Amino acid sequence: MTRPTPAQSVRLCGQTLRELVDRGDGDPTRVLPRFVSAIQRLLEQEELLDVGISRSGNHADTSRLLYYEPELMIVSGSAGGPWAQSAHNHGVWVATALYAGSMKQQTFRMLEQDAEGRARVELVEDVDMQPGDVCVCPPPPHDIHALESSGGYGMLVVAGGGFSPLRQYYDVARQSYNERSERDGVASSRAF
Ligand SMILES: [Fe+2]
Repeated sequence: MTRPTPAQSVRLCGQTLRELVDRGDGDPTRVLPRFVSAIQRLLEQEELLDVGISRSGNHADTSRLLYYEPELMIVSGSAGGPWAQSAHNHGVWVATALYAGSMKQQTFRMLEQDAEGRARVELVEDVDMQPGDVCVCPPPPHDIHALESSGGYGMLVVAGGGFSPLRQYYDVARQSYNERSERDGVASSRAF
């Protein structure tokens, strides 16, 4: 059997993930073991980062869009030095898969939020990710994580479609949030 090309592996993975999420009624955490395994198989693909098109990621040194359909996208991102994003949401479920470097990730559950800038979120997971590790945030309102890498990283981000153009950033200790408008949910974005 002919070995799939990197592009074929990306397409196969995207289609597999979509079918799994459909089976989970739109929530990848309901099909978590198979969902994580499918992403980890893709991480083993060599020359993965030759696939896709460059996108503008203001907080990443490089970022590429590998796969997109209206309800699922896969992007890559990397940075060569210290990098961090405070707790934020996405408007869709999101999974991160580390393929190089290291990454600390915290995921949060939304407890309550109002329209006046107050929000209480609860820490669900606090993980020191190593290459091969995958973290998954469920659909909104629990699509919240914070990321920090002291020495740089390379990761794939899989999301339930394009990111929301209006994102919320949370100050966990002060129980508050503010909204920032992103330029575009798919082609460019300030945050993964
Ligand atoms: Fe994010």
